[in-house]
Amino acid sequence: MANRKTIHDFLQMKREGKKITFLTSYDFPTAQFAETAGLDMLLVGDSLGMCVYGYEGTVPVVMDQMIFHAQAVRRGAPNTFVIGDMPFMSYQSAVDKAVENAGRFLKEAGCDAIKLEGGKRITRVIQAIVDAGIVVMGHVGLTPQSSGQLGGHKAQGRTAELAKLVVEDARAVQEAGAHMILLEAIPPEVGRYIRQDLRIPVLSIGAGPDCDGQLLIVSDLIGQFQAFTPKFVKKYCNVAEMVTSAMKAYCQDVRSAAFPAEEHCYRMLEGEEEKFVVLMRAEK
Ligand code: KIV
Repeated sequence: MANRKTIHDFLQMKREGKKITFLTSYDFPTAQFAETAGLDMLLVGDSLGMCVYGYEGTVPVVMDQMIFHAQAVRRGAPNTFVIGDMPFMSYQSAVDKAVENAGRFLKEAGCDAIKLEGGKRITRVIQAIVDAGIVVMGHVGLTPQSSGQLGGHKAQGRTAELAKLVVEDARAVQEAGAHMILLEAIPPEVGRYIRQDLRIPVLSIGAGPDCDGQLLIVSDLIGQFQAFTPKFVKKYCNVAEMVTSAMKAYCQDVRSAAFPAEEHCYRMLEGEEEKFVVLMRAEK
């Protein structure tokens, strides 16, 4: 029986001021590392479109891709709360379709919750998914799936008027029944206000230090994603450099015949080489 935190634990952590640790994960080994490291929550984010598939953005990602990755993450982290991220057009066009797709994350991948982007304009969808008995995380501020409308991957809520709109979106998400909310790329002052204003746990990716927990994209944290680095990222190691230099060393070893060495070879059994030579001579 899995021993994962639940939404009740996250509410309790908010009440006690204990920070929630949250990271994306897209594959089995990374999920294993994250569970060993003690992460509270994992997001199988549609950012995998950029971090794993090399797309320019998240828009091309489809449900089946998300399900395959969520299944791998679930297998790697059986005791961690896993959230499946609803990809573009899996919930925007019809409420029934949204509920069905949200359900797939639970039925086919064993996720604990789903996340979807948007504030006031998707409250009907949030309500319907919650009514189906599914734990929902909202996502407001910078919402990458609609970055075209936002004029790019830009911080949101930087003026008083625009900050008020982000607060209204966050309130609408809570009123629709969402159990948690993620704030992306907004000023820390606004993040702090929303954290105090809402009853539900408020997670931050670029929303300052005063939220109930922090999310980073694992490919940013380990220095694997190369295309760009948002301001809110802190790199904790440089996997790109480590892996590239390991691969260069491998090429050098192969070219100089330093690899494979004796310890990498499967020798014939005692006395078999002589027999082999005789056998092959007889063939000629
Ligand atoms: O897909 C994802 O990883 C996300 C983050 C950018 C918040 O939604």
